[in-house]
Amino acid sequence: MNKKTILITGGAGFIGTNAAAHYLKKKYRVVVYDNLSRAGAKQNLDWLENQKGNLVFIKGDIRNYKKLFEVSEKYKPDLVLHLAAQVTMVTSITNPREDFEINALGTFNVLEALRREIPRASLIYSSTNKVYGEMTDVPIIETKKRYAYKDIKGVSEDYKLDFHGPYGCSKGSGDQYTLDYARIYGLNTVVYRQSGVYGPRQFGIEEQGWLAWFCNALLFDKAVTIYGNGKQVRDVLYIDDLLKAFDLIFRNIEETRGRAYNIGGGSKFSLSIWELFDILEKLSGKKIDYSFDEWRAGDQKVYISDLTKAKKDFGWAPKISPKEGLKRLYNWTSQNKNLIKKAGVFKG
Ligand SMILES: NC(=O)c1ccc[n+]([C@@H]2O[C@H](COP(=O)([O-])OP(=O)(O)OC[C@H]3O[C@@H](n4cnc5c(N)ncnc54)[C@H](O)[C@@H]3O)[C@@H](O)[C@H]2O)c1
Repeated sequence: MNKKTILITGGAGFIGTNAAAHYLKKKYRVVVYDNLSRAGAKQNLDWLENQKGNLVFIKGDIRNYKKLFEVSEKYKPDLVLHLAAQVTMVTSITNPREDFEINALGTFNVLEALRREIPRASLIYSSTNKVYGEMTDVPIIETKKRYAYKDIKGVSEDYKLDFHGPYGCSKGSGDQYTLDYARIYGLNTVVYRQSGVYGPRQFGIEEQGWLAWFCNALLFDKAVTIYGNGKQVRDVLYIDDLLKAFDLIFRNIEETRGRAYNIGGGSKFSLSIWELFDILEKLSGKKIDYSFDEWRAGDQKVYISDLTKAKKDFGWAPKISPKEGLKRLYNWTSQNKNLIKKAGVFKG
């Protein structure tokens, strides 16, 4: 019996639920800390509670430092995955204070609980590619179905930080604090900066989780809005590949501590909206109904991660192609239509 304990903030969210199930299978005690604010979180928790293993659920908010501290003191986790967040740029623009309090102050609270109570634990913080801003100085080219970088394959961690929008600022603040706590306090803290992660148990809404959102809309015959011209490109990562990265980052903590890693599908696994539509329309045999609107604030035309550093430091590279990953997501979505409807991913 493995006696290790992992604390997962945001453990009832998409990435958190998949990570919790993954560590339950490895016989960890899994402590999920989540305020269940996200559409689908309650449904994910119900599912998790039906999995085998040692699961502890704590309904809590990362803005509540006292509670985080008590949980750290009581369960003494060896590993911490800090995933809880206000996750949408749109919401951050309408309510920047709440966004700051959850993402910046909430992350500070998690780090303080770590420093004061469990300083030997290893912590991974989920940052975002938004810390690199719009990257308007990187030359791009436009082809029939997509934008592409003109001179580079992907963005490396050396690219200058340029926090964009309240969400970029609040997540970026958590990113820099996490790195600094390794430097100043000698903690085992690591940052990974991700672009689009997708997979089962993702309750995509219009503002976040775009691959799942388009799957949902297609299955429920809802029209979607394309902000911009549909040629915007992101590298995309299937959840199982991300879980492997977590394992490797933790396993190689002496090497990874104090560092930031770009984690995504890389240049091999990237998609524009039109390319995504092609795959989904083939899978479903249906046409997606869409209209256009203006570009959204801070939206990069292309973002693709350079994965060289992750490969070099802990031997990680993604394996699951968008074609395969989307098939799995689409199947999960079609088999869980009632759950998705109940979760309230569609407004109105
Ligand atoms: N999914 C992606 O493609 C992606 C891309 C970039 C960054 N990220 C980051 O990865 C992390 C996880 O993303 P996800 O896709 O699983 O999101 P998610 O919304 O599915 O999960 C976040 C979870 O945090 C919980 N939560 C929100 N506010 C909270 C609070 N104040 N206290 C406690 N719990 C709270 C929610 O209920 C939810 O269960 C987030 O930090 C997000 O910013 C995700």
